Amino acid sequence: PYPVFVAEVMLQQTQLQVVLPYWQRWMAALPDLHALAAAEPQQVLLLWQGLGYYSRARRLQQAAQRLLERDPADPWPSDLEGWLALPGIGRSTAGSLHSSVFDQPAPILDGNVRRVLARLLAWPLPPARDLASFWTLSQLLLDRQRPRAFNQALMDLGAGVCVPRRPRCPECPWKPQCAAYAAGDPGRYPVKDSPRVVPFQVIGVG
Ligand code: ADE
Repeated sequence: PYPVFVAEVMLQQTQLQVVLPYWQRWMAALPDLHALAAAEPQQVLLLWQGLGYYSRARRLQQAAQRLLERDPADPWPSDLEGWLALPGIGRSTAGSLHSSVFDQPAPILDGNVRRVLARLLAWPLPPARDLASFWTLSQLLLDRQRPRAFNQALMDLGAGVCVPRRPRCPECPWKPQCAAYAAGDPGRYPVKDSPRVVPFQVIGVG
């Protein structure tokens, strides 16, 4: 769980090829949860230097300390709520951790996944305006027999194939099912936030 935990927090705002050398250095310097919890905050920040969003490093160390305070012999959360209660862990990272670490079914919804799902269904609303639908969709699609592989595939699809500009549709395993591809313009999705997509707009009050 520890290597996955560190990787998921590093990957929250940063791409895999940037993260990789930082993650390798980190694992060599702080190889387990105990090492991270006991490290000098200065060392933690130094290892993070270059990744940006430094509050992530501070919260990662706080999370390590919380986990060990709870149960040093068995520190890792066994349910989604346990992950969510940790500093710096939101709903999508919690789902990603729960599915990656224990192969348990928990949905994810980061920026890449929102884009993939918006295209798959040619969804008429911007994801940010309709998060509940997107969470439901991520949950419905999740392969309950293989949640780890499914979520990883979804993230990889968003990062490498269903990319923001010029999506690589010919390589996509979801091409036959994709509504945006069928409509001939996958780049149009996810739709932008604009007044035109608001179905009922109050024009002039009073
Ligand atoms: N971004 C966040 N988690 C990730 C993962 N497990 N693989 C690739 N990109 C990610």
